[in-house]
Amino acid sequence: MADILLVFGTDTGNTEDIGEKIQELFSESGHFVEMINVSDCSADKINSTDICIFGVPTWDFGGIQEDWEDFQDELETAELSGKTIALYGLGDQFGYGDYFIDAVGWLHEIIQPMGANIKGYWPTKSYEFDGSRALSPCKTYFYGLAIDEDQQFELTDERISEWVAQLIQEFESDEAA
Ligand SMILES: Cc1cc2nc3c(=O)[nH]c(=O)nc-3n(C[C@H](O)[C@H](O)[C@H](O)COP(=O)(O)O)c2cc1C
Repeated sequence: MADILLVFGTDTGNTEDIGEKIQELFSESGHFVEMINVSDCSADKINSTDICIFGVPTWDFGGIQEDWEDFQDELETAELSGKTIALYGLGDQFGYGDYFIDAVGWLHEIIQPMGANIKGYWPTKSYEFDGSRALSPCKTYFYGLAIDEDQQFELTDERISEWVAQLIQEFESDEAA
């Protein structure tokens, strides 16, 4: 499997911490993950990697973490057609239950029309929230892993470990196809 580029944005550090856990789990399975803050990233950097993971927190009632928002124009110049991309988002389902991980939905709305091969959809069943921009049309999946360090931190490690196992399977079955 190709090396992976994990691009994260963060205001208070949670999305970076989760990225490090994802990195560690991939590494235990023999896969290299390079982490980069979105504020240091470029379209060229993304173009140079076959597989990307994007991590984004949601802020201020459905708002996009500002470094990601600043990166939108650059992201739209990247060559994402056919590129394998998985998303994860940080949010607070009880504090901001109408906007839970909305920023994942925002990223999905950008990368899907650009032809990205999006992996890692994640079931909504263990969460309680009223609305999210990150929901699949059937509303039973998020467009990526949802992590809630504010309300369900005790579920985080298990969620990450299941998601990474799911991604490895999805990435490898793509390669075999
Ligand atoms: C003022 C404020 C606004 C927030 N707005 C949202 C929101 O709209 N939706 C959501 O899911 N989470 C929201 N959150 C929760 C953050 O996304 C969450 O704390 C996340 O872990 C922060 O990640 P970071 O440390 O990587 O910035 C908000 C938190 C605060 C303090």
